[in-house]
Amino acid sequence: MSGPRRGRSTPGAAPRPPATARGLALRALLDVDAGGRANVVVPALLGASCLDQRDRSFVTELVYGTCRMQRACDWLVDRHARGRTDPAVRAALRLGTYQLAWTRVPRHAAVSATVAEVDGPGRSMVNAVLRRVADDVERGPIRWPDPATALSYPDWIVARLAADLGPGVARAALEQMNVPARTTGRPDGYIQDAASQMVAVHVGPAPGERILDLCAAPGGKATALAGAGAALVAAVDVDPGRAAVVAANAKRLELPHLATLVADGRRTPFRTSSFDRVLVDAPCSGLGVLRRRPDARWRGRPSDLPRLATLQRRLLDAAAPLVRPGGVLVFSVCTLTREETAGIDRWLASEHRELEPLPPPAAPWMLAGRGGLLLPQAAGTDGMFVLSLRRR
Ligand SMILES: C[S@@+](CC[C@H](N)C(=O)[O-])C[C@H]1O[C@@H](n2cnc3c(N)ncnc32)[C@H](O)[C@@H]1O
Repeated sequence: MSGPRRGRSTPGAAPRPPATARGLALRALLDVDAGGRANVVVPALLGASCLDQRDRSFVTELVYGTCRMQRACDWLVDRHARGRTDPAVRAALRLGTYQLAWTRVPRHAAVSATVAEVDGPGRSMVNAVLRRVADDVERGPIRWPDPATALSYPDWIVARLAADLGPGVARAALEQMNVPARTTGRPDGYIQDAASQMVAVHVGPAPGERILDLCAAPGGKATALAGAGAALVAAVDVDPGRAAVVAANAKRLELPHLATLVADGRRTPFRTSSFDRVLVDAPCSGLGVLRRRPDARWRGRPSDLPRLATLQRRLLDAAAPLVRPGGVLVFSVCTLTREETAGIDRWLASEHRELEPLPPPAAPWMLAGRGGLLLPQAAGTDGMFVLSLRRR
């Protein structure tokens, strides 16, 4: 069988991670291909490896970049690879092609160091195809068949965002989400994208208030709200494992007023009018955070959107009565589709007349319905939507 080289191991022991950056990247790509998430697989493999810091960053760049540009890589490869390739050979072809077309790695290193990680009969094929891809890239510019292949997104995401945002705005958003995310930290050390920090500020917690976060895990916004002086932050999540992460974060950040509860946000034990503010940071298609989750674009389906919008509406139905009269309900999602943003706002306007809109955040947010939409290209952040409403 062809495949990336395995680290040597003693019988009965867990296999040692490969000893080179490209070997580790190939292992990670195979794990993602088998259903793992890049942002889980990569830290786990790096945690068990002996690579130095420079190589660790290189592994992350290689895996994230190859996952992002997978469709474009496959198109460059398939012009030269006849027939189907097994997963290990395909991973090596994608990894080599990514280096050739999207990094400054010199041609010789990109080809030979990638080929060196492939064992078995696939090795000569990987070598031959990568040399041809290198020739194509050098000859450039590449004449892509369509924008979705060039930008490496599934057709449906390109079509949906073009329809919802306009083709020019959608293209800029898609390009921006191919740029690696910067790491941004809060003063308390919690790593959180600037857009999420802005949403937490927009919730506007006042000292002494009781706040409910109905979809709280992993706790980014709940910990920000608890750190802003709230008397109580009740952090609810339906997923017990993810709720445990909220509790661990609250403990680490020493936030005794943050209480975690495992419950379905559509059916919580709270009495009506119990909270000054309720945040529904709802499950969504995540199309605003694709730069941070490089493999997510290949997992979603168009049929997810109506299902998620229905769940968002049911969570809001449950959340609205929990806000005290005069209190505030905030809806946010990390996506850009109209169905999950302005569409939800339109539904709230007709079905929840007891809720009146509050002003959306200022620029770089733009108006979307009665809420604010932050495009990824507006400030180099995640894409987000937020809408605040006061209960009459
Ligand atoms: C966008 S994430 C929340 C992110 C979080 N607010 C933060 O800032 O870190 C959505 C969360 O909703 C949770 N969820 C999904 N369905 C739910 C439901 N019916 N009730 C409560 N939580 C739910 C998911 O487990 C997920 O953790």
